[in-house]
Amino acid sequence: MPEIAQERRCLAAKPDRLAGIVQNVKGRLTQFRLISRMFRNWPELVLFRLGLRNQVIAKWRSGASVAIHSLQDWYNLQRGCLWSMELLKAYCCPVCVRDDKIELTFRGKPLRFQAESVAISFGMLVEQFVNEQYKWLCVRGKQVLDVGANIGDSAIYFALNGAAHVYALEPYPYTYLQARRNVELNDLERQVTVLNMGCGQEGMVTVNPELKSEPSSNLVQHETGEMVPIVSLKRIVESYGLSDAVAKIDCEGCEYALILGAGDEELRAFSQMMIEYHHGYQDLVDRLKKAGFQVTHTRPVDFQNVVTGRSEVVGFIKAMKPSK
Ligand SMILES: C[S@@+](CC[C@H](N)C(=O)[O-])C[C@H]1O[C@@H](n2cnc3c(N)ncnc32)[C@H](O)[C@@H]1O
Repeated sequence: MPEIAQERRCLAAKPDRLAGIVQNVKGRLTQFRLISRMFRNWPELVLFRLGLRNQVIAKWRSGASVAIHSLQDWYNLQRGCLWSMELLKAYCCPVCVRDDKIELTFRGKPLRFQAESVAISFGMLVEQFVNEQYKWLCVRGKQVLDVGANIGDSAIYFALNGAAHVYALEPYPYTYLQARRNVELNDLERQVTVLNMGCGQEGMVTVNPELKSEPSSNLVQHETGEMVPIVSLKRIVESYGLSDAVAKIDCEGCEYALILGAGDEELRAFSQMMIEYHHGYQDLVDRLKKAGFQVTHTRPVDFQNVVTGRSEVVGFIKAMKPSK
């Protein structure tokens, strides 16, 4: 039996080639859609991306233009801060950076974010407010647990979508303070509580308080620094009286300790969960099904984590508790 379980874990952990191809095709289609939204001369750019032109002047709809001489130039442009900013402008107009703050508009509401690293923050704001990656979760009137809050982007998204209250957990002190600041900047303190805590197996971890963590930073023990509590799902559910709640979990691998270490009672305190998995889905899916959830997952794809230097197998799990 243990061997079978081991084999299933490995199978689940292998990146799926078909998923990779599908993702690639979807990515290209999305890119063409974005190109048409971001550039005035989008047909020329599509020809360039199809390999039918060697170089092109990319003319942003916002006015500026940039010369592209090679595919490498194009990739550099896409990775840069300007790309994310123009993308945000195309969808959440108007966007500007003023006094170290990014300002944008989401569904008519002006938002402000403190931008320590403008490039990284833009990327996350695009995921939240352009791609709306957590749109599947129905948070209106619900308590929401946001594990892996980072700069508060997802917590603010849930609050704007009508969550009754969001409990957002971020273990890295520096990033936690940014999340708090962003919640304050948007006057959402009454709706969002940001907590300087990690999730997983109960205990404490020592972290470097100065560390400007990145979204892909997992929680690692430092020799010296600030002690931060790590809390289990049971503790969170009991402390904040969660029931019929919604969970978003994106915490760079803590999802296994959090979900597999939880009892049925605390899992059932949630009616919906959306979890990003980083090392395969099978154990998580099995556990959630055993607790009575209806579960679906995306196919695993390979991801090279530049922060840890490790390759990961990532995707999303969606779990819904059937109504009685
Ligand atoms: C990719 S970011 C999440 C960004 C964004 N809020 C979202 O959900 O799309 C993942 C965050 O998880 C945090 N994290 C890492 N280990 C964690 C743990 N054990 N418990 C909670 N959060 C953790 C990281 O510091 C990072 O800010």
